[in-house]
Amino acid sequence: MGIFEKFFVRNTAGSNEQGHFPDVVLHKKKILEILHKTSRPVFLAEKRILLDRYDRLENALKQNWKKYQIAYSLKTNYDIARSRIFQSQGAWAEVVSGYEYVLAKRLGFSGSEIICNGPIKRDNELIAAVQQNALVHIDNQDELLRVMRLGRILKDKARLGLRISTLLPSGKTSRFGFSVPNGEALAAVRLLHSSHIRLKSIHLHIGSDVDSVDSYQKAAKLMALFCNEVERIQKFPVSCIDMGGGFPADGKAPYGYGHWSSKPISDYIQAIAYSLRRYLARPNTKTLVVEPGRYLVDNAVIFITRIYNVNRCNGVIQVLTDGSVTLLPLSYYRPQIVKVYSPLCIRKTGDSLHGIIYGATCQENDMLYEGGLPKDISIGDYVVYYSVGAYNSSMGNRFITGYNKPTIFI
Ligand SMILES: Cc1ncc(COP(=O)(O)O)c(C=O)c1O
Repeated sequence: MGIFEKFFVRNTAGSNEQGHFPDVVLHKKKILEILHKTSRPVFLAEKRILLDRYDRLENALKQNWKKYQIAYSLKTNYDIARSRIFQSQGAWAEVVSGYEYVLAKRLGFSGSEIICNGPIKRDNELIAAVQQNALVHIDNQDELLRVMRLGRILKDKARLGLRISTLLPSGKTSRFGFSVPNGEALAAVRLLHSSHIRLKSIHLHIGSDVDSVDSYQKAAKLMALFCNEVERIQKFPVSCIDMGGGFPADGKAPYGYGHWSSKPISDYIQAIAYSLRRYLARPNTKTLVVEPGRYLVDNAVIFITRIYNVNRCNGVIQVLTDGSVTLLPLSYYRPQIVKVYSPLCIRKTGDSLHGIIYGATCQENDMLYEGGLPKDISIGDYVVYYSVGAYNSSMGNRFITGYNKPTIFI
C-alpha cells in the first residue's frame, strides 16, 4: 500500500463522505487535452463533486429544519462563484466586502439573496445594501454606532442582524462580532432597542475547519438562548438564525491541530438543529441559514503542476515544479495531499522515498510538500494536489510567476 492509499484509508474512518476527489485517471482524456493546451499549472474543478456536496448539505438541512437557506461564502473560491453552480441550485451569496457585494450583484443575486458580513462596511456600502434589501450583520461597536446614526434611512425597512461570538477554543475573545460571554452582545441589543432598531437575524460563525460536532451543538445552544433574550427585549421575532460556516472538508489536519476527524455534513446540521429545537422559544418561526465555503468547494478542486527538475541527493529527492506556494498559499496552513502521474496520466505508485517538492519562485522556502514520493518520479511528470478548492485561488497571488490562472471546470 502506497502512502496515498494509507492516507485515504486513515481518513475514511468515521465518515462516509471521504474519497470524493476528482479522479484523474477517469478524466484522463479531458485533463490531457487541457494540459496540452497550456504550459502553466492549472486548477481543475469537478462539477459533479460540487453538486454532490451541495446536495448532501441541502438534504441534511431538509431533514432537520423546516425553513433553511444556504449562502455560499464567495471568498472561498471566486471562480466557483462566477460559475454560478451553487446559485443555480438556489444558494444565496455571503459577502464580506464592498468588492464581493458588487460581484454578487454582477452575478445576478438580488439584494435579498445577499448576506453582508465582514468587519468593515463603509457608510455608502451599508446604505446601498440595506436599500437593496440585503441582510446586513452588524459586526462591531463602530458599525453599530454608524447604523444608529444612519438610523432614519435604515431602521424601518432594514434587514439588520447582529454578529455574536462565543469564546474561541483558546479561551480568547473573538475579534469578530459582539461577545455573548462578556455581555457585549446583550448591551448592543439594548442600545439598538433604545433607537427602535429591530434585529431580524442573529449570526454566529465559530471558526474555520471546525471538526467538532459538539462545538456546533454548544454554539447553537448559545445562539438559541441569546435569540430568546433578544426577542424578549425587542418584543419582535427574530426570523433568521445564521450559524455561519466552518464545516470541514477532507484535506489533512491543519498544522497545530492535535486531533482531526471531519464528519459527514449531516452530523453538524443535526447537532445544530437539535440545540435550536431544544432551546429556541419559537423554533418553527425561524429560517436556519448556513454559510459554508470550504465544505462545498475544497474536495472538488485539484491543482496540476509539471516537474521541471529532479535532484537525488543523500537519499532525498528534490523536485522542482512550476507550482508555487504563491499559487497554493494554504501549503503553509496544512500538509498537502499529492499524487504523481506520468505524462500520460498514469499514476506512479511504486516504492516511495523521502522527497521535497519545491515551487517556481526564487524563495528558498517555496516548498509545497515534504514526504514520500515515488522512486521513479521524473521530469515531465505531473504532481497533482488534492483538496485545494478553498481559499487557494482566492488568496493566491502573482508573485514571480506573473499569473493566477482561473479554474477550469470538468
Ligand atoms: C462570516 C463567515 N461565514 C462563512 C465563512 C466560510 O467559512 P468556511 O469556508 O470555513 O466554511 C467564513 C470564513 O471565514 C466567515 O468568516
